[in-house]
Amino acid sequence: MSIFRHSPPGVDGLLDCAVKAAITAGRHALRNARRRFEVVQRAAHDVKLTLDGECQSRAERIIGERFPEHAIRGEESAARPRGKPSRTRIEWIIDPIDGTVNFSHGLPFWACSVAATCGGQTIAAAVYAPAWDELFTAAAGWPAKLNGRPIRVSRVNALSRSIVLTGLDKRIDPRLPPFEIFRAISAGVQKARVLGSASLDICHVACGRADGYFETGIYIWDIAAGRLILQQAGGKAEILRRLGGDRLQFIATNGLIHHALKSLIRRPAASFV
Ligand code: IPD
Ligand code: CA
Repeated sequence: MSIFRHSPPGVDGLLDCAVKAAITAGRHALRNARRRFEVVQRAAHDVKLTLDGECQSRAERIIGERFPEHAIRGEESAARPRGKPSRTRIEWIIDPIDGTVNFSHGLPFWACSVAATCGGQTIAAAVYAPAWDELFTAAAGWPAKLNGRPIRVSRVNALSRSIVLTGLDKRIDPRLPPFEIFRAISAGVQKARVLGSASLDICHVACGRADGYFETGIYIWDIAAGRLILQQAGGKAEILRRLGGDRLQFIATNGLIHHALKSLIRRPAASFV
Protein backbone atom coordinates (compact mmCIF):
# COMPACT_ATOMS: atom_id res chain seq x y z
CA MET A 1 0.00 0.00 0.00
CA SER A 2 1.33 3.45 -0.82
CA ILE A 3 2.13 5.73 2.12
CA PHE A 4 0.64 8.83 0.55
CA ARG A 5 -3.00 8.81 -0.58
CA HIS A 6 -3.21 12.54 -1.30
CA SER A 7 -0.61 14.68 -2.98
CA PRO A 8 0.58 17.86 -1.23
CA PRO A 9 0.06 21.01 -3.31
CA GLY A 10 2.72 21.68 -5.92
CA VAL A 11 4.01 18.12 -5.97
CA ASP A 12 3.65 17.95 -9.77
CA GLY A 13 6.10 20.86 -10.17
CA LEU A 14 8.57 19.15 -7.83
CA LEU A 15 8.32 15.88 -9.73
CA ASP A 16 8.79 17.62 -13.07
CA CYS A 17 11.91 19.33 -11.73
CA ALA A 18 13.27 16.08 -10.21
CA VAL A 19 12.86 14.33 -13.58
CA LYS A 20 14.61 17.14 -15.48
CA ALA A 21 17.49 17.25 -13.00
CA ALA A 22 17.98 13.45 -13.01
CA ILE A 23 17.83 13.13 -16.80
CA THR A 24 20.11 16.12 -17.42
CA ALA A 25 22.73 14.89 -14.95
CA GLY A 26 22.50 11.28 -16.14
CA ARG A 27 22.76 12.15 -19.82
CA HIS A 28 25.76 14.38 -19.14
CA ALA A 29 27.56 11.40 -17.59
CA LEU A 30 26.53 9.08 -20.43
CA ARG A 31 27.64 11.51 -23.18
CA ASN A 32 30.96 11.95 -21.42
CA ALA A 33 31.52 8.30 -20.51
CA ARG A 34 34.89 8.33 -22.29
CA ARG A 35 36.03 10.70 -19.51
CA ARG A 36 35.25 8.12 -16.82
CA PHE A 37 38.98 7.79 -16.06
CA GLU A 38 39.25 11.42 -14.86
CA VAL A 39 39.67 10.77 -11.14
CA VAL A 40 39.54 13.49 -8.51
CA GLN A 41 40.10 11.28 -5.48
CA ARG A 42 40.80 7.60 -4.94
CA ALA A 43 40.11 5.58 -1.76
CA ALA A 44 40.68 1.91 -0.98
CA HIS A 45 37.28 0.79 -2.34
CA ASP A 46 35.93 3.96 -3.88
CA VAL A 47 36.59 6.68 -6.41
CA LYS A 48 35.43 10.26 -7.03
CA LEU A 49 35.32 11.37 -10.65
CA THR A 50 35.33 14.80 -12.26
CA LEU A 51 31.97 13.77 -13.72
CA ASP A 52 30.43 13.24 -10.24
CA GLY A 53 30.91 16.95 -9.54
CA GLU A 54 29.86 18.08 -13.03
CA CYS A 55 26.63 16.03 -12.89
CA GLN A 56 25.80 17.32 -9.44
CA SER A 57 26.28 20.96 -10.59
CA ARG A 58 23.97 20.37 -13.55
CA ALA A 59 21.24 18.92 -11.33
CA GLU A 60 21.69 21.72 -8.78
CA ARG A 61 21.43 24.37 -11.50
CA ILE A 62 18.09 23.03 -12.73
CA ILE A 63 16.66 22.92 -9.21
CA GLY A 64 18.14 26.29 -8.21
CA GLU A 65 16.69 28.08 -11.27
CA ARG A 66 13.22 26.74 -10.58
CA PHE A 67 13.21 26.80 -6.77
CA PRO A 68 15.90 29.24 -5.59
CA GLU A 69 14.54 29.19 -2.01
CA HIS A 70 14.91 25.41 -1.54
CA ALA A 71 17.80 23.76 0.30
CA ILE A 72 19.99 21.29 -1.63
CA ARG A 73 22.16 18.46 -0.30
CA GLY A 74 24.08 16.12 -2.53
CA GLU A 75 26.71 13.44 -2.29
CA GLU A 76 29.24 15.78 -3.86
CA SER A 77 28.24 18.79 -1.75
CA ALA A 78 27.52 17.02 1.56
CA ALA A 79 30.13 19.18 3.28
CA ARG A 80 28.65 22.41 1.91
CA PRO A 81 24.84 21.96 1.66
CA ARG A 82 23.00 24.87 0.09
CA GLY A 83 20.48 26.44 2.47
CA LYS A 84 19.13 25.01 5.71
CA PRO A 85 16.22 22.56 5.68
CA SER A 86 13.37 22.95 8.14
CA ARG A 87 10.23 20.98 8.92
CA THR A 88 8.27 22.91 6.31
CA ARG A 89 10.99 23.78 3.83
CA ILE A 90 11.83 21.59 0.84
CA GLU A 91 15.25 19.98 0.82
CA TRP A 92 16.52 18.33 -2.37
CA ILE A 93 18.76 15.28 -1.98
CA ILE A 94 20.90 14.34 -4.98
CA ASP A 95 23.20 11.48 -5.85
CA PRO A 96 24.57 12.53 -9.26
CA ILE A 97 26.15 9.16 -10.08
CA ASP A 98 25.06 6.34 -7.81
CA GLY A 99 27.32 3.45 -8.72
CA THR A 100 30.39 5.53 -9.52
CA VAL A 101 32.76 2.56 -9.35
CA ASN A 102 30.60 0.65 -11.87
CA PHE A 103 30.48 3.71 -14.14
CA SER A 104 34.25 4.17 -13.92
CA HIS A 105 34.74 0.59 -15.20
CA GLY A 106 32.10 0.83 -17.93
CA LEU A 107 29.51 -1.35 -16.17
CA PRO A 108 25.94 -0.18 -16.89
CA PHE A 109 24.57 -0.39 -13.30
CA TRP A 110 24.53 3.26 -12.26
CA ALA A 111 21.90 5.95 -11.94
CA CYS A 112 21.20 9.55 -11.10
CA SER A 113 18.93 9.95 -8.07
CA VAL A 114 17.01 13.14 -7.19
CA ALA A 115 14.53 13.51 -4.31
CA ALA A 116 12.50 16.46 -3.02
CA THR A 117 11.97 16.00 0.71
CA CYS A 118 10.01 17.86 3.38
CA GLY A 119 10.35 17.25 7.13
CA GLY A 120 12.43 14.12 6.44
CA GLN A 121 9.86 12.56 4.04
CA THR A 122 10.46 12.25 0.31
CA ILE A 123 7.55 13.77 -1.62
CA ALA A 124 8.82 13.62 -5.22
CA ALA A 125 11.48 11.34 -6.67
CA ALA A 126 13.26 10.42 -9.89
CA VAL A 127 15.91 7.76 -10.50
CA TYR A 128 17.29 7.71 -14.04
CA ALA A 129 19.45 4.85 -15.36
CA PRO A 130 21.01 6.30 -18.52
CA ALA A 131 22.55 3.05 -19.84
CA TRP A 132 19.05 1.59 -20.25
CA ASP A 133 17.19 4.87 -20.64
CA GLU A 134 14.99 3.84 -17.69
CA LEU A 135 13.30 6.52 -15.63
CA PHE A 136 11.66 5.58 -12.31
CA THR A 137 9.41 8.20 -10.73
CA ALA A 138 6.95 8.71 -7.89
CA ALA A 139 5.33 11.52 -5.95
CA ALA A 140 3.28 11.65 -2.77
CA GLY A 141 -0.23 10.52 -3.65
CA TRP A 142 0.79 9.34 -7.12
CA PRO A 143 1.72 5.88 -8.33
CA ALA A 144 5.30 4.81 -8.98
CA LYS A 145 6.15 4.56 -12.68
CA LEU A 146 8.84 3.22 -14.97
CA ASN A 147 9.07 5.20 -18.21
CA GLY A 148 5.54 6.50 -17.60
CA ARG A 149 3.91 3.12 -16.87
CA PRO A 150 2.75 2.20 -13.33
CA ILE A 151 4.87 -0.40 -11.55
CA ARG A 152 4.19 -2.77 -8.64
CA VAL A 153 6.35 -4.82 -6.32
CA SER A 154 6.49 -8.60 -6.73
CA ARG A 155 4.15 -11.05 -4.99
CA VAL A 156 6.90 -13.39 -3.91
CA ASN A 157 6.17 -14.22 -0.29
CA ALA A 158 8.89 -16.71 0.61
CA LEU A 159 12.55 -15.91 1.12
CA SER A 160 13.47 -19.18 -0.57
CA ARG A 161 12.01 -17.83 -3.83
CA SER A 162 13.40 -14.29 -3.47
CA ILE A 163 16.15 -12.34 -5.11
CA VAL A 164 17.68 -9.99 -2.53
CA LEU A 165 20.01 -7.20 -3.63
CA THR A 166 22.62 -5.96 -1.21
CA GLY A 167 25.94 -4.17 -0.94
CA LEU A 168 29.10 -4.95 0.94
CA ASP A 169 29.93 -2.10 3.26
CA LYS A 170 33.58 -1.11 3.18
CA ARG A 171 33.46 -0.01 6.82
CA ILE A 172 33.21 -3.05 9.02
CA ASP A 173 30.71 -2.39 11.80
CA PRO A 174 31.11 -5.14 14.43
CA ARG A 175 27.44 -4.76 15.35
CA LEU A 176 26.41 -5.68 11.80
CA PRO A 177 29.26 -7.53 10.10
CA PRO A 178 28.66 -7.26 6.32
CA PHE A 179 30.18 -10.61 5.28
CA GLU A 180 28.35 -12.58 7.97
CA ILE A 181 25.10 -10.91 6.94
CA PHE A 182 25.81 -11.58 3.28
CA ARG A 183 26.40 -15.24 4.09
CA ALA A 184 23.11 -15.42 6.03
CA ILE A 185 21.17 -13.73 3.21
CA SER A 186 22.75 -15.98 0.55
CA ALA A 187 21.89 -19.11 2.49
CA GLY A 188 18.29 -18.02 3.11
CA VAL A 189 17.17 -16.70 -0.28
CA GLN A 190 17.06 -18.02 -3.83
CA LYS A 191 19.85 -15.63 -4.89
CA ALA A 192 21.67 -12.71 -3.30
CA ARG A 193 23.16 -10.20 -5.75
CA VAL A 194 25.51 -7.24 -5.41
CA LEU A 195 24.90 -4.94 -8.38
CA GLY A 196 26.58 -1.76 -7.05
CA SER A 197 23.95 0.98 -7.25
CA ALA A 198 21.65 1.25 -4.24
CA SER A 199 19.11 3.63 -5.80
CA LEU A 200 18.72 1.31 -8.77
CA ASP A 201 18.57 -1.77 -6.52
CA ILE A 202 15.59 -0.26 -4.68
CA CYS A 203 13.89 0.58 -8.00
CA HIS A 204 14.42 -3.02 -9.13
CA VAL A 205 12.47 -4.08 -6.03
CA ALA A 206 9.80 -1.45 -6.81
CA CYS A 207 9.16 -2.90 -10.29
CA GLY A 208 9.26 -6.55 -9.19
CA ARG A 209 12.61 -7.59 -10.71
CA ALA A 210 13.91 -8.27 -7.19
CA ASP A 211 12.08 -8.84 -3.92
CA GLY A 212 14.26 -7.17 -1.31
CA TYR A 213 17.24 -4.93 -0.69
CA PHE A 214 19.36 -4.46 2.41
CA GLU A 215 22.55 -2.63 3.22
CA THR A 216 24.40 -2.33 6.53
CA GLY A 217 25.68 1.20 5.87
CA ILE A 218 24.29 3.43 3.17
CA TYR A 219 24.00 7.19 2.70
CA ILE A 220 20.77 9.16 2.64
CA TRP A 221 21.40 10.30 -0.97
CA ASP A 222 21.60 6.64 -2.11
CA ILE A 223 18.09 5.88 -0.86
CA ALA A 224 16.12 9.16 -0.63
CA ALA A 225 14.46 8.86 -4.07
CA GLY A 226 14.25 5.06 -4.26
CA ARG A 227 12.39 4.71 -0.96
CA LEU A 228 9.38 6.76 -2.17
CA ILE A 229 9.34 4.98 -5.55
CA LEU A 230 9.28 1.65 -3.70
CA GLN A 231 6.60 2.74 -1.22
CA GLN A 232 4.33 4.10 -3.96
CA ALA A 233 4.78 0.78 -5.80
CA GLY A 234 3.36 -1.03 -2.75
CA GLY A 235 6.64 -1.97 -1.04
CA LYS A 236 7.99 -1.31 2.44
CA ALA A 237 11.09 0.74 3.26
CA GLU A 238 12.56 1.06 6.74
CA ILE A 239 15.54 2.76 8.32
CA LEU A 240 16.76 0.16 10.82
CA ARG A 241 19.43 2.28 12.45
CA ARG A 242 20.90 5.76 12.12
CA LEU A 243 24.68 5.48 12.13
CA GLY A 244 25.43 9.18 12.51
CA GLY A 245 25.86 11.86 9.88
CA ASP A 246 24.15 10.84 6.66
CA ARG A 247 24.69 7.08 7.14
CA LEU A 248 21.90 4.58 7.74
CA GLN A 249 21.08 0.89 7.90
CA PHE A 250 18.25 0.40 5.48
CA ILE A 251 15.93 -2.33 4.25
CA ALA A 252 13.44 -2.20 1.38
CA THR A 253 11.20 -5.08 0.32
CA ASN A 254 8.01 -6.00 -1.49
CA GLY A 255 6.39 -6.02 1.99
CA LEU A 256 5.69 -9.75 1.92
CA ILE A 257 9.23 -10.86 2.82
CA HIS A 258 9.98 -7.85 5.03
CA HIS A 259 9.73 -9.51 8.42
CA ALA A 260 11.54 -12.68 7.31
CA LEU A 261 14.42 -10.73 5.74
CA LYS A 262 14.79 -8.61 8.87
CA SER A 263 14.98 -11.73 11.04
CA LEU A 264 17.61 -13.23 8.72
CA ILE A 265 19.76 -10.13 9.08
CA ARG A 266 19.32 -9.89 12.85
CA ARG A 267 20.60 -13.38 13.56
CA PRO A 268 24.25 -12.89 12.52
CA ALA A 269 24.13 -9.35 13.90
CA ALA A 270 23.00 -10.58 17.33
CA SER A 271 25.70 -13.24 17.50
CA PHE A 272 28.39 -10.60 16.89
CA VAL A 273 27.31 -7.96 19.41
C1 IPD B 1 27.40 3.36 -3.63
C2 IPD B 1 26.42 2.43 -4.33
C3 IPD B 1 26.61 1.00 -3.86
C4 IPD B 1 26.51 0.88 -2.35
C5 IPD B 1 27.46 1.85 -1.66
C6 IPD B 1 27.21 3.27 -2.15
P1 IPD B 1 28.23 5.60 -4.91
O1 IPD B 1 27.15 4.70 -4.04
O2 IPD B 1 25.10 2.83 -4.09
O3 IPD B 1 25.62 0.15 -4.39
O4 IPD B 1 26.83 -0.44 -1.98
O5 IPD B 1 27.25 1.76 -0.27
O6 IPD B 1 28.10 4.15 -1.50
O7 IPD B 1 29.39 5.82 -3.99
O8 IPD B 1 28.58 4.81 -6.10
O9 IPD B 1 27.49 6.82 -5.23
CA1 CA C 1 25.82 6.93 -4.01
